[in-house]
Amino acid sequence: MTARKLYTAGITGTGMSFPDKVLSNADLEKMVDTNDQWITERTGIKERRIVEPGTPASVHGIKAARQALATAGVSPEEIDFIVVPTVTPDMLFPSTSCIIQDALGCKNAWGYDLLAACSGFIFALQSACAQVESGAVKKALVIGTEVMSSILDFTDRDTCILFGDGAGAVVVERLDDDRVGLIDHIHHIDGEGAKFLYQRGGGSLHPATHETVDAKLHFVHQAGREVYKYAVKGMASITREILDKNGIQGSDVKLFVAHQANLRIIEHVARRVGLSEEQVAVTNHRFGNTTSATIPSALHIYQEQGTLEPGDLVVLCAFGAGFTWGATLLRWTA
Ligand SMILES: CC(C)(COP(=O)(O)OP(=O)(O)OC[C@H]1O[C@@H](n2cnc3c(N)ncnc32)[C@H](O)[C@@H]1OP(=O)(O)O)[C@@H](O)C(=O)NCCC(=O)NCCS
Repeated sequence: MTARKLYTAGITGTGMSFPDKVLSNADLEKMVDTNDQWITERTGIKERRIVEPGTPASVHGIKAARQALATAGVSPEEIDFIVVPTVTPDMLFPSTSCIIQDALGCKNAWGYDLLAACSGFIFALQSACAQVESGAVKKALVIGTEVMSSILDFTDRDTCILFGDGAGAVVVERLDDDRVGLIDHIHHIDGEGAKFLYQRGGGSLHPATHETVDAKLHFVHQAGREVYKYAVKGMASITREILDKNGIQGSDVKLFVAHQANLRIIEHVARRVGLSEEQVAVTNHRFGNTTSATIPSALHIYQEQGTLEPGDLVVLCAFGAGFTWGATLLRWTA
């Protein structure tokens, strides 16, 4: 269902922040039974960034948000709303959005954290855009930030090679020009997928105990092959759906920014939708899967390198634990 829009919302600034410390495939070879060739061929990932132990998600979230504010030319006091998609908040409460709001000095903002795993950024972008389109707020920050290393088992080769830490952020504003900005969003959830990708410990079902720690319930667990199949199917069909619904040909799309979990998934989806290599954003060789940070950081990278110009059609697409998935169609404004 599409809500009635009173105003147009668009992304007016982007930012990102990654830890300095690089964890390469060669480093992982020394930690688990894996090798650079396997990781590269199966995922496209060459290296990822990892925080120093004890660094919370807010640290890189704050840096990415500062950069997004600077590129948008917006002051912290002008922000009305902050949404932080994350599966690795600093703590369960207070929310990481409160911690970031305080650090940035966004004195006039309200906000919350949003949990939709790897779809978190596009779900949060929808929340921010809906607030702006309804007239409830004028300027919002969406900050995807993760410390995936805090929930990874570095003895489990099935998962520890896939993820990295980092943050990406965007400023969303009410626009005067309705020929650009957010055009459409489609989202789905399906709890049937809950059994394939999860972190069971630490919630009300399995509060932290010595037993939950011993049973490794506080780490990410994934049935990779299953998730792969659902991800390709879900991302391809939702991308096709949002293009068809809006009467857009694949060739009209300037940039397809899919969640950067796995290069094979991205290429598979792009092929099914009929997009060429030049239309597809790829950053996972540098950063791995940073969950809610992959899409905003990719937008920042492609904006900075001059690929994106105002008016360009951009499609965002993600798939994650839940299962959650969705797509966003926009004309670039930053
Ligand atoms: C995880 C993933 C990369 C694994 O790739 P895959 O091609 O499915 O590989 P499989 O799990 O089938 O394993 C193939 C073989 O490699 C082995 N293997 C698994 N992990 C390995 C590793 N890190 N290094 C070396 N070998 C590994 C397996 O044991 C298996 O060996 P076998 O054939 O002798 O049994 C892939 O399934 C994937 O990307 N899934 C989706 C992940 C994702 O996107 N998650 C986030 C969603 S938001």
